[in-house]
Amino acid sequence: MRVGITGLGFYVPEKILTNQDLEKMVDTTDEWIRTRTGISERRIAEKGVGTSDLAAKAALSALKNAGIDATAIDLVIAATSTPDMPLPSTACILQHKIGAKNAAAFDLAAACAGFVYGLVTAEQFVRSGMYQNVLVLGADLISSYIDWTDRSTCILFGDGAAAAVVSQVKSGGFLSSSIGSDGQYAELLTITCGGSKNPATPDTVKTKGHYLQMSGGEVFKLAVRGMSDSVEKALAKANVKPEEIVCFVPHQANLRIIDAVAERLHLPKEKIFINLQKYGNTSAASCAIALCEALSQGKFKKGDKIVLATFGSGLVWGAMVIEW
Ligand code: UT7
Repeated sequence: MRVGITGLGFYVPEKILTNQDLEKMVDTTDEWIRTRTGISERRIAEKGVGTSDLAAKAALSALKNAGIDATAIDLVIAATSTPDMPLPSTACILQHKIGAKNAAAFDLAAACAGFVYGLVTAEQFVRSGMYQNVLVLGADLISSYIDWTDRSTCILFGDGAAAAVVSQVKSGGFLSSSIGSDGQYAELLTITCGGSKNPATPDTVKTKGHYLQMSGGEVFKLAVRGMSDSVEKALAKANVKPEEIVCFVPHQANLRIIDAVAERLHLPKEKIFINLQKYGNTSAASCAIALCEALSQGKFKKGDKIVLATFGSGLVWGAMVIEW
């Protein structure tokens, strides 16, 4: 059985936060941000908006693109690290918002690698024959967890959501995947408080324990290794050579990370899709939004082989080879 993506959609909030805006908020410059990361601007959700609101817009767009009704969805997988709330799952809130009345629903926590983890999970449900249509969301409203006085993190992230319908396909589809993790590096990229171990107290608020903290340099090096290794493994599994790849769609965290991965994989620049200048790192949505835009900009077409590559807090990583 061939399983693949039959519909795609994404949504980003309208509000734009530029590097010039950030210059007024923290001790940074547009020049530093562009040369060290490649990012020029990012989208930020309005107060009161939740991840499920962004996800619902992306989901409805993907359903329209797939040409199916929400009632045809059997399972909703919401890959997010920024759920609307601890309980219930964002997938359940979303299931109701979009009218996916016949769907089971659960959240998947794999940070910035969530979309690829979600696709791999969805593939198993369809391949086993248990479900026909699975809706996979990569959605994060990471601005809620950013310390807007910390210049080392606040310049990097943005909000967004993207969705894919995963179903049986007649040709092409998912050729292979490789996902992995290494929890020994958990502390390198974390939000330490607000969970069961360190619930919210006045002290956790005072010490900024509810904000994202990152050891940027170390994450950088491990991101290059994790993404490159998982792409190599996925290509080998599919018996696809790097030169057969028409479009490489990486997690959009930092242009220098993407360049380093491309160099290790000997992928020419013109095959790499980059949109981080507009959105920054949108976490689980990042690779998914890039996939939507690469397709709409004609970077690949039916029958072409493409690769998705992701990396995130955990640490986790995942790559997928797809024939479109
Ligand atoms: O989704 C996956 C998770 N995230 C990532 O993949 C991000 C991985 N890491 C990175 O992208 C990079 O490490 C950063 C962009 C976060 C930082 O770039 P870097 O080249 O590793 O810079 P650095 O942390 O080594 O800092 C260099 C200098 C420091 O000053 P000193 O100590 O050399 O005087 C920082 O204080 O740059 C300073 N700095 C800044 N300066 C201006 C850090 N942030 C800023 C800033 N503006 N926003």
